[in-house]
Amino acid sequence: MNDLAGKHIVLGLSGGIACYKSAELCRLLTKAGATVQVVMTEAAAQFITPVTMQALSNRPVVTSQWDAREPNNMPHINLGREADAILIAPASADLMAKLVQGRADDLLTLMCLARPVERVPLLLAPAMNREMWAHPATQRNVAQLQADGAVVLPVGQGDQACGEVGDGRMLEPPQLLDLLLAHFQPKVLAGQRVLVTAGPTFEAIDPVRGITNHSSGKMGFAVARAAQEAGAQVTLVAGPVHLATPWGVKRVNVQSALEMQAAVQAEVGQATVFVAAAAVADWRPANASDQKIKKDGSGLPPALTFVENPDILAGVAASERARSGALFCVGFAAESHDLEVNAQAKRVRKGVPLLVGNIGPATFGQDDNALLLVDEHGCRAVPHGPKLALARQLVAEIARRLAAGHG
Ligand code: C5P
Repeated sequence: MNDLAGKHIVLGLSGGIACYKSAELCRLLTKAGATVQVVMTEAAAQFITPVTMQALSNRPVVTSQWDAREPNNMPHINLGREADAILIAPASADLMAKLVQGRADDLLTLMCLARPVERVPLLLAPAMNREMWAHPATQRNVAQLQADGAVVLPVGQGDQACGEVGDGRMLEPPQLLDLLLAHFQPKVLAGQRVLVTAGPTFEAIDPVRGITNHSSGKMGFAVARAAQEAGAQVTLVAGPVHLATPWGVKRVNVQSALEMQAAVQAEVGQATVFVAAAAVADWRPANASDQKIKKDGSGLPPALTFVENPDILAGVAASERARSGALFCVGFAAESHDLEVNAQAKRVRKGVPLLVGNIGPATFGQDDNALLLVDEHGCRAVPHGPKLALARQLVAEIARRLAAGHG
């Protein structure tokens, strides 16, 4: 996705072994459509060469406040004014300490001090040894930087280059890209608590077999991510899928429809928005065997009987909080034909104000989709696009309805 098209990012590197990851980060930023201007400290250039960063950003790297290539000889002013965001990755302990003090004895710190604070966000991706990260001086500096308006991104946990294990690693480049993208999203769901179901359910026949469906969970995961990007606190109840948990989202894994229902019931009391994107199995075997069912030599299959699963969405939509307007419910419908008619009928049957129709066979497992938003007044098509882009539009629609008192 060309999510950063039109954005100009100043990528600052201070000195740390995590500089090796900044090459990959630069690549990801440009692939996402951004133009990238790299600024490096002298220490950063000990870890990775400006040549590498120039080749990847397709622009000369700036390292010195005395760089005479700028016509007015003021790179520290020009660079900050042009940026949509300054991202410093890695941000060393020393760099953060300098920023706290407002020191400006190299180009990177000078540029940060000179940036228009209201207009140009400053994001820092700390990277250091775990003792340095945990030190009260560093933690004090982090708090002060946040108070001064910088966004201090989280650190990763794990093996460190020094051989120790703990907090303080720089996040991986794809995570940093996701956090930057999230930063640019409007915070239209700030203060909301969003509960999402996603993926298929798996209904056991015996310990080794079961029935499930082709839902990949991608649409529901995209909704969870988009809601998180929009500032909501998000819980994602996920059936069995192999998808990474979106950043900052609380995930509860379940297998069966009954487990999904229990997880939803445990969480929905705190939610203000419920989005049911899961493809819940309609039926489950009436009596799952606790031992593997064997062929008995008769040539006859076992006589399986099924019972209907509870309708999780309809149950939540009928609750007191949903009916009083404290909880806004959104359903999904995967249809194979007559989308509008079927989706409208399903919306009424489920008792939800908004239902999202899509053509199931066309979207299962894909990264793209097209949506039809159906409410009591009619429908609106959200044209074909990546699931994350569609999810962001759905989130914007939900936010509009919340702001208008669900109208
Ligand atoms: O009836 P159908 O399965 O087509 O309804 C789809 C919508 O209802 C989806 O939002 C789905 O997550 C939800 N649903 C549910 N519990 C079920 C069946 C469907 O929450 N047992």
